[in-house]
Amino acid sequence: APQYENIKIDVVGEKKNVGLIQLNRPKALNALCKPLFQELGKAVKDFDADDKIAAIIITGNEKAFAAGADIKEMQNNTYSTNVRGGFLQEWEDASNCGKPIIAAVNGFALGGGCELAMLCDIIYAGEKAKFGQPEINIGTIPGAGGTQRLPRYVGKSKAMEIVLTGNFIDAHEAEKMGLVSKVFPVEKLLEETIKLAERIGTHSPLIVKMAKQAVNQAYETTLKSGLHFEKQVFYGTFATADRQEGMNAFIEKRTPNFKNE
Ligand code: CAA
Repeated sequence: APQYENIKIDVVGEKKNVGLIQLNRPKALNALCKPLFQELGKAVKDFDADDKIAAIIITGNEKAFAAGADIKEMQNNTYSTNVRGGFLQEWEDASNCGKPIIAAVNGFALGGGCELAMLCDIIYAGEKAKFGQPEINIGTIPGAGGTQRLPRYVGKSKAMEIVLTGNFIDAHEAEKMGLVSKVFPVEKLLEETIKLAERIGTHSPLIVKMAKQAVNQAYETTLKSGLHFEKQVFYGTFATADRQEGMNAFIEKRTPNFKNE
């Protein structure tokens, strides 16, 4: 297995089919420096390519999921160095993953930390989690999706309030506004997130991938072309063995045996 300095990886779940990535710069509250994101991108890519893995979890520690992009690293950046080096460009790598990625957020998910959670497919939170886009406090704006993904989760008024004030919101508020799908006691969060990943892992990986692509279209396109895309993918499931197996198993009142085909 590759050696990482800024993350830890593990394979968890009863069937060992869940890829776990833990951000591991606790002294810096998991500030997202470039080497961390390069490692994260590689770990996600490797799990995505591994047929034994059904879903991926990204988590931090009890104090912090991630407190944002690394302010020390970017303190002396200039416009020119940002453009030349494609600053934060590697962040989008994780969003190209075909498998579901679930963020399990305990503690701070601020700035780039909140943006990382939002580029995952589902966000579960521990009840002490705190979300925010505090970039405005340090004279900049969200730069890894915060101004674009947050309004799609919570609507304009709340997104504006969060981005323009820099105020933090707690886990229950985040759940109420639709940013987070469920909230758990801190010590239960990871096990509940693994259960979610395992539940997804009972389905056909092929069909899970198609379903993820279809839901993601809702954020990329108009309703009409999104519905068209959905219909094509839906029709496409009928070209798979797993669709036939799923329906046969239902009619025969047995558990389906999906083959990822
Ligand atoms: N970058 C670099 N280092 C960070 C960091 C960050 N984003 N957040 C925390 N740290 C470091 C601190 O500098 C400190 O290091 P030292 O011990 O060397 O001083 C250590 O982590 C612990 O932090 P604090 O002492 O500040 O801990 P606290 O409990 O008092 O406060 C906090 C916690 C409220 C989260 C506070 O650390 C904080 O406000 N952090 C910055 C949050 C932020 O502004 N994030 C947005 C970053 S910009 C961005 O993300 C751009 C983008 O859109 C991509």
